[in-house]
Amino acid sequence: MIDIRGLRKRFGEHTVFSGIDLTLARGEIIVVVGPSGTGKSTLLRCINFLEQPDGGQIRVGDLSFDISRVTREQILALRRRTAFVFQNYALFYNKTALENIAEGLIVVDRQPKARAYARAREILERIGLADKADAYPASLSGGQQQRIGIGRAMARNADVILFDEPTSSLDPQWVEEVLGLMKQLAADNQTMIVVTHEMQFARDVADRVIYMDGGEIVEQGPPSELFTRPQDARTQHFLRQVLAANPV
Ligand SMILES: Nc1ncnc2c1ncn2[C@@H]1O[C@H](COP(=O)(O)OP(=O)(O)OP(=O)(O)O)[C@@H](O)[C@H]1O
Ligand SMILES: [Mg+2]
Repeated sequence: MIDIRGLRKRFGEHTVFSGIDLTLARGEIIVVVGPSGTGKSTLLRCINFLEQPDGGQIRVGDLSFDISRVTREQILALRRRTAFVFQNYALFYNKTALENIAEGLIVVDRQPKARAYARAREILERIGLADKADAYPASLSGGQQQRIGIGRAMARNADVILFDEPTSSLDPQWVEEVLGLMKQLAADNQTMIVVTHEMQFARDVADRVIYMDGGEIVEQGPPSELFTRPQDARTQHFLRQVLAANPV
């Protein structure tokens, strides 16, 4: 489903990563963990060209290209196959819940408005917010806003949804409803890459956990193995700290 080879990114003099390889099967759920500043967000953002990577190869489904020769059409095609859920929801505050979900369908996927709105209503049902169709984000709780952020991604039927710390801006009382929606997506076999420190979620849902440090994938494996028998000293140190704060 997704195959990334030798992905490179630097900001000025600072190399974030210089050769990330990552393969995902259809329906696979990957959780990425690692210390702050190690490049987790940059990796997700490079996968759908929110940041332009400097080199490497990307294949998503039947779309495959070398970054050094990528065309604008290929970038747009890649964006149609991917969806992103942001830490701070990134909703349009002057648009209703319904309009927020329909927007990507109209702008990115070029769907006719009537079809986009019908799809957005269907998604509002699925995320349990049908009664909030005409509500503006400011009148919704953080949990409801992030469910709309996830609904917007779901609506697009993307090959993969990329989640960048989807619960870390939420007040604690809203975390479970957002994780619950993500679990629902996982149960529907949605392919997902999730950056999160919610270790219980990782343990329950992830097929594979990746530990990134210093711009590299240091270690990866099923959560049952990585959490109980990490091999690398950096993974051991990180997991000791994070699991102490978020016991599973
Ligand atoms: N737009 C940017 N311009 C310059 N440097 C950047 C930019 N975005 C990220 N960086 C740098 O790239 C490195 C990786 O950042 P990134 O945000 O990917 O880390 P992260 O693993 O997601 O960290 P966190 O856990 O704090 O979210 C950091 O050193 C960061 O300062
Ligand atoms: Mg980040």
